[in-house]
Amino acid sequence: MLHVLLTLARIAHGVLASNVSSPSVLDPPSTFVSGAWSLVQQGTSGVSGMQLIIVTETTALIFDKVEHNPLTTEDGEPAWTAELNLNTHVVRPLHALSNTWCATGGFLGNGTFLSTGGNPIVITGEDGLQALRFFTPCQDGTCDIWENSSLVHTTSPRWYPGSVRLEDGSVLIFGGATANGWMNNPTANNPSYEFYPPKNINGFNGLKIPSPFLATTLNANLFPIVMELPDGTLFVAANQRAMIFNWRTNAETQLPDIPNGVRVSYPLAGSAVMLPLTPENHYTPEVMICGGSTIDDTADPSTLSSQIPASAQCSRLVLTAEGIAAGWKIETMPQPRVMPDMVLLPDGRVVIVNGARTGLGSYGNVPDAVGPASNADHPAFTPVVYDPTGPAERRFSSQDIPASAIPRLYHSTATLTPNGSILLAGSNPNTDITIGTKYQTEYRLEFYSPAYMSKPRPSYKGLPATVNYKSKFTLSVQLPLDTAEVTVALMDLGFATHSVHVDQRFVKLVSKLSADKKTLMVTGPPTARVYPPGPAFLYVVTAAGVPSFGHKTIIGTGASPPVDQGAIDNSTSAFATYEGPPT
Ligand SMILES: *[C@@H]1O[C@H](CO)[C@@H](O)[C@H](O)[C@H]1NC(C)=O
Ligand SMILES: *[C@@H]1O[C@H](CO)[C@@H](O)[C@H](O)[C@H]1NC(C)=O
Ligand SMILES: *[C@@H]1O[C@H](CO)[C@@H](O)[C@H](O)[C@H]1NC(C)=O
Ligand SMILES: *[C@@H]1O[C@H](CO)[C@@H](O)[C@H](O)[C@H]1NC(C)=O
Ligand SMILES: *[C@@H]1O[C@H](CO)[C@@H](O)[C@H](O)[C@H]1NC(C)=O
Repeated sequence: MLHVLLTLARIAHGVLASNVSSPSVLDPPSTFVSGAWSLVQQGTSGVSGMQLIIVTETTALIFDKVEHNPLTTEDGEPAWTAELNLNTHVVRPLHALSNTWCATGGFLGNGTFLSTGGNPIVITGEDGLQALRFFTPCQDGTCDIWENSSLVHTTSPRWYPGSVRLEDGSVLIFGGATANGWMNNPTANNPSYEFYPPKNINGFNGLKIPSPFLATTLNANLFPIVMELPDGTLFVAANQRAMIFNWRTNAETQLPDIPNGVRVSYPLAGSAVMLPLTPENHYTPEVMICGGSTIDDTADPSTLSSQIPASAQCSRLVLTAEGIAAGWKIETMPQPRVMPDMVLLPDGRVVIVNGARTGLGSYGNVPDAVGPASNADHPAFTPVVYDPTGPAERRFSSQDIPASAIPRLYHSTATLTPNGSILLAGSNPNTDITIGTKYQTEYRLEFYSPAYMSKPRPSYKGLPATVNYKSKFTLSVQLPLDTAEVTVALMDLGFATHSVHVDQRFVKLVSKLSADKKTLMVTGPPTARVYPPGPAFLYVVTAAGVPSFGHKTIIGTGASPPVDQGAIDNSTSAFATYEGPPT
């Protein structure tokens, strides 16, 4: 017995000592600005903030479901998609044709935003189950959503899908359901994936490709977590399971389950980030998933309760052979959270906001629904900031962070803004607009400003409109007086919905400050797998942890993703044969 223990101890020691399994050990402990965060409520979103993405330095898209929103289009119909001006807080109605209810989204490599999937329910507009919607951001307030279901659509219905931008600037769309239902099930499940633009790959020419993982992760496997890894494979997590997925060969490699039976996808959503990829950690991917629930996803909802505690577990896994062998490392948040949002900060930390301490997502299913339809209760009002490089017992902190007074439950979102603040939007655990109840439809926007916002900020000029891989460019920088050194954080701010932050990413670029501290020579990301081609926000961050404004560029050449006309033709005809959702 003693011998066994010693052997285990030796193995454990070997693992801990390995730079591969603990890449963050190679990162110098980061410094952060301490002091008070501020919180302001500014502006309203006009449509409730179910989906949120920053699309320019001054604008964000906010997508909702079709419902009787106060923001209306010119013809007096309720809007359900809008563009928010981050400076003036004015919202401009956009004109989606179909129901964006529980769609996914993300940029293509050429900078056009793609919204995928949705819901068949129609108040005004069209069924959105197979929708593909396009929005090319502009600065002059004239751009709008384009969609035409007879010309462009997915090959199969996808309500609550996941998605990810790939190394060629195309998008892989993963899973979802074919029909309404509070929980996925074998009848509604769409255990398949497809690409936009469509590909001729893995024996399927433009058509959907079966995914065994999605067939075996029922029931709570909607809005799966999908991330592009620096070796070109994908990390995928749904329900209690995780895998590495090689989409080029259609090969699934199982990873250890999420520990302790915690489920991490809708309606038992946790949230996930890939921790910063840096030259020092050799761009070694490490994922972290926080929150979720251990509620039985096969239970009849009449036996469940809004009062069941959520999970406080965070799990980290280094995605190398050694890291996988070492398994998930567990930490505990100060409070449990279901439906949290995890947002990467330009100083390398992660902020965990929104969600509830009890219950689960969706609405109107449990007998003790609150306010009146929320399946969740006890909103988590106080953000927690997490320092991935800090000493194990002191990584989480809510010190000097004011609590919000606005519950952000089901259908709420959060994102980092170009200026470094954190925008919170939404919350609507209701079937249509419900105002004046405990958990009403929420339009109020809030902005958290971390302590770094109140310090003298660095600024820079000269970011090229596109930055190709390994290309060198020079920024002219203006640094606060006492700045010794700076780093460069290249960030994809991600598309937020249902606790998933599609494509969110932090890649530290190689950079060198001139002796006079006036110019910064920066090298573009090493490969399209480390940072897939597409929009990015670049922050120059002082050694003290103060970021500049994040200006926008496009990584790669800005080229459109590859197209295959045969696959497109096949994908388009697939619509004609679709008979509608099962009844
Ligand atoms: C780990 O560290 C050793 C010794 O410093 C080095 O030779 C090796 O390349 C490192 N491995 C990785 C994956 O960084
Ligand atoms: C969609 O495309 C078809 C075929 O080109 C066209 O007839 C139709 O008017 C278009 N619909 C809209 C709403 O633009
Ligand atoms: C960015 O934040 C700083 C500090 O809070 C503020 O002074 C400045 O006006 C903001 N700039 C923009 C463009 O929002
Ligand atoms: C980007 O590519 C998509 C898909 O091919 C296309 O529909 C869109 O118009 C392109 N956007 C730009 C700005 O070229
Ligand atoms: C559509 O897919 C089928 C089956 O994979 C294939 O036989 C056919 O050639 C494809 N059609 C086009 C237009 O590529």
